[in-house]
Amino acid sequence: MDQRHLSQEEVNELIHQSHEAKTFSYSPYSKFRVGAALKTRDGRVFTGCNVENACYNLGVCAERNVIAKAVSEGYKDFIAIAIASDMEKEFISPCGACRQVMREFGCKWEVYLTKIDKSYEKMTVDELLPRSFGPDDLCKKKVSNIPSNH
Ligand code: THU
Repeated sequence: MDQRHLSQEEVNELIHQSHEAKTFSYSPYSKFRVGAALKTRDGRVFTGCNVENACYNLGVCAERNVIAKAVSEGYKDFIAIAIASDMEKEFISPCGACRQVMREFGCKWEVYLTKIDKSYEKMTVDELLPRSFGPDDLCKKKVSNIPSNH
């Protein structure tokens, strides 16, 4: 499916929603708040934040959280995600795990990395994770002599 581009108004609104979502961040350990707003092709917006845990390694990032929310409600055709943090001088950049999870749902959609003042840098999933491994790779031709216990 072709990528649908957001109007400037839609971009501004999605960024605003990502910053709103950040206010729900549960990040008592890192004190690093992150919010994300994810837009589907049919115009719905899901929001999510990072949710940490006393067992530190169980924390989940805002991006993966919002994608899980959308997929678990039946939506997986995404056109854009905006990501917000409290950083003043840097655009928030998604971690490697989140890039891979975004990529599962396509390479061409838009990712808006923002700063606290709502300025942004626009990228695509492909630019964030070039030469990635995805669902199609599992179907590619393999050698035929794979041992039968696999
Ligand atoms: N985090 C996100 O939620 N998204 C990002 O793009 C980067 C990092 C979270 C994970 C953790 O809760 C906190 O920020 C510090 O790493």
